[in-house]
Amino acid sequence: MRILSLVGARPNFMKLAPLSRELARRDPVEHVIVHTGQHYDRDMSDTFFEDLGIPKPHFNLEVGSGTHAQQTAAIMERFEPLCIAPEPELVLVYGDVNSTVAGALVAAKLRISVGHVEAGLRSRDWSMPEEVNRVVTDRLSTLLFTPSRDADENLRAEGIPGERIHFVGNIMIDSLVHALPRARELNRAAQLGVAGGEYVVVTLHRPSNVDDPGTLRELAGALQDLAKQHPVVFPVHPRTRNRLREFSVPLVDSDRLQLLEPVSYVEMLSLVSAAGLVVTDSGGLQEETSFLGVPCVTVRPNTERPVTITHGTNELVVPLRSAVVRAALAACGKRATGKPVIDLWDGKTAERIAEVICDFCTGGCERGQS
Ligand code: UD1
Repeated sequence: MRILSLVGARPNFMKLAPLSRELARRDPVEHVIVHTGQHYDRDMSDTFFEDLGIPKPHFNLEVGSGTHAQQTAAIMERFEPLCIAPEPELVLVYGDVNSTVAGALVAAKLRISVGHVEAGLRSRDWSMPEEVNRVVTDRLSTLLFTPSRDADENLRAEGIPGERIHFVGNIMIDSLVHALPRARELNRAAQLGVAGGEYVVVTLHRPSNVDDPGTLRELAGALQDLAKQHPVVFPVHPRTRNRLREFSVPLVDSDRLQLLEPVSYVEMLSLVSAAGLVVTDSGGLQEETSFLGVPCVTVRPNTERPVTITHGTNELVVPLRSAVVRAALAACGKRATGKPVIDLWDGKTAERIAEVICDFCTGGCERGQS
């Protein structure tokens, strides 16, 4: 039973890791990993494979950067031959990046079934490239693995037949649960000289926040203001670093505002789990902070992950200097107490996905111990 997983960008890798472990235990599954090369810097890609224990990809399509059309087209062109001989029974795609939609298009046109891990999320914001990727990928998928009940509702409202929708929970939490002991032991905060519960972790990379010089200036100003009250640790995404330079936005590395290169998965988890606050525009961090009980201020007008607001620690804020600072100062240090209560965010999502896959593929499969 040949199953092909296509991944390409940083947030895909933590969704692949638990499923790759789980599929390796199933007989007679042959799980082939294809990396598109959308993210190619060592610290955006290779370190994640090492950190998360994902086997080296069988193929790397090395598409690199480009416009959306160039990137999507290059992935499609290079991925298609891998789906022809031998033909897989299922192509798995993850999340909402360009690699996701490109893989789904190739497989669907070859009449190969597509499984989408993290299906059904909707921001209803068509200015986000990810929203286009989500809707198109879900429309092309046969197996839709959803992380939350609202995702099921979104899919049903779009007319996706109920038998295709599988509520399995959040696979990001599988990776988190698996790596948390290592992350705590690492204690990255101590290495950076910041005190647990007091510092702020920042990530910003969305085109809507960093590609507009005015907005990027507002946000840089907010971080400078914030750093006067709380130490700030900011691993800077390559897109953001490029824009800061291009627009000559002053943001200077200091003891109070530490600008880092992108950090590994375990380092990030270590930083986030001990933080007083996270300020972000990432999707995954809204979920991770909700699970960990760490307050999160998300610099976006909307979220495709509303459960992190209704049941988690997340709040949305507009990208204005004063608004970000006000929200951040109010939230910092106010950790949620008690166990997280989001349905099926329990570290066992990969197991549930593998069960569905084995039932779906011809002949079924058995779960071994290794
Ligand atoms: C992509 C995803 C986004 C995800 C993010 C996480 C899409 C449409 N967007 O955005 O959903 O949240 O990844 O990181 O797929 N670059 C490097 N080195 C790298 C990768 C990128 O220098 O390893 C630079 C390139 O200049 C590139 C820019 O970053 O042009 C943006 O990369 P790209 O893959 O287009 O999108 P992201 O902004 O990373």
